[in-house]
Amino acid sequence: MDINLIFDSLAVLAGGALLTLSLTMLSLVISFVLSVPLSLLRASSNKALSGSVLAYTYVFRGTPLLVQLFLVYYGLSQLDVVRHSIFWPILREPFWCALLTFSLNSTAYTTEVFKAGIQAVPSGLIEAAQALGLSPLLQIRLIIFPLAFRTVLPSYANEVIGMVKASSLASTVTLLEITGLARRLVSETFAPYEVFLAAGLIYFLLNFIVSTVFRIVEIRLARSGGN
Ligand code: ARG
Repeated sequence: MDINLIFDSLAVLAGGALLTLSLTMLSLVISFVLSVPLSLLRASSNKALSGSVLAYTYVFRGTPLLVQLFLVYYGLSQLDVVRHSIFWPILREPFWCALLTFSLNSTAYTTEVFKAGIQAVPSGLIEAAQALGLSPLLQIRLIIFPLAFRTVLPSYANEVIGMVKASSLASTVTLLEITGLARRLVSETFAPYEVFLAAGLIYFLLNFIVSTVFRIVEIRLARSGGN
């Protein structure tokens, strides 16, 4: 094993961390925003609404992310409606294909995570809020979401960590994020062991930071009288 090559690889691959982080962060922001209303629909007693959301989460959680990415990347160009739409200049770019796929995939997971949190809110609290005359929107904002978010924090941390790692699949559609750069570096150095060790180290470091941030938030919330 060539230690120097590991250090050289770390320097090269760190250049892909920005793309890894942008893909991950953007898809997490999009999935967070979409999952808030979707999880409410999913937890609602309306069978048609919650069933439709359930079907969506089944499809995106039940098929490999790689397959979804290939379907978007190779498949959208087959559809005339897409090719003739104003979105085509965007949708033919690998970055936007990856972002779209990652966002849809993460939304499915996050919706189920949030829905579990919503259902864990004690019904007595909601009844108390209703008795106080809070509007449904205020009940959601002041009671349901803050409590639900506390409960699901550990599961949501899993989702963030999962997306950091899943973003490596973007390398299969030509993107030069950490794994993409690693694959290119291997074809130049013929040293897969050193190069992928370096790639693994960078992912580990990123997720170490993610885990630590979540742990700090969890400890703070517990101290401030949370559950
Ligand atoms: N290995 C999983 C798959 O292929 C990755 C999915 C990760 N998605 C997530 N949102 N956590 O489907």
